[in-house]
Amino acid sequence: MSPTATAGMNRRAFLHLTAATAVMAAVGPNRAAAAPDAQPVHLPPPQLDSGRPLMQVVRARRSARAFGPKPLPPQVLANLLWAGDGVNRPDSGGRTAPTASNSQDMDIYVAMADGLFLYDAKGHALQPILGEDIRALAGRQAFVKEAPVNLIYVSDLAKMKAAPEDREVYAAAHTGFISQNVYLYCASEGLATVVRASIDRPALAQKMGLRSSQKIILAQSVGYPKP
Ligand SMILES: Cc1cc2nc3c(=O)[nH]c(=O)nc-3n(C[C@H](O)[C@H](O)[C@H](O)COP(=O)(O)O)c2cc1C
Repeated sequence: MSPTATAGMNRRAFLHLTAATAVMAAVGPNRAAAAPDAQPVHLPPPQLDSGRPLMQVVRARRSARAFGPKPLPPQVLANLLWAGDGVNRPDSGGRTAPTASNSQDMDIYVAMADGLFLYDAKGHALQPILGEDIRALAGRQAFVKEAPVNLIYVSDLAKMKAAPEDREVYAAAHTGFISQNVYLYCASEGLATVVRASIDRPALAQKMGLRSSQKIILAQSVGYPKP
């Protein structure tokens, strides 16, 4: 996250962010290295009393492909990720998006100007993965590298109990639920977003260092509408 994204973060969150930024600076801008001792960036708790009425939000849902450069503030990013696939039942670990047999096979990777992060839903934190801007690899369309946030939806097919021939279909369905949660949050907050299949998946997976069981399903760009 850029320094401007620290505005409004509490001291604990800021200290974690500083630690993560320091790790990334040590890694260097062009090294695709996941620092093994990288500290998670803790996100502010989601604002559960925010948002517009559901029916108005559904009416406003749409795709948009023109993004302004302003980064998402940490609170907005925290709300977005929690709405997408956060833990909404801490007692059971249940998530905002359903998965077959509660397999919880989905990961959301977050590509921003300052690096690639993995959303840790249980800890409601960002785990630094890469200290470089890989947004241009997150999709084939020109606007992708301009969107301040690109979410990359990845299923680990090995986490599913379903028959192997069913797993990719289920992963696609799981991604759809997360994506629609993100669409609805964006509609509620006046953010621009579009879900995308047009991705060079082999190149992106290699850059992200994914395991062979991890499959990129879709990506989704998010940001403020272009003024
Ligand atoms: C599975 C899927 C893949 C999509 N892939 C892309 C894409 O690669 N690039 C893009 O600009 N839009 C993509 N879209 C967005 C659709 O083009 C968009 O949802 C459609 O035109 C309807 O517009 P609306 O979302 O505003 O209703 C995709 C949508 C879905 C559901």
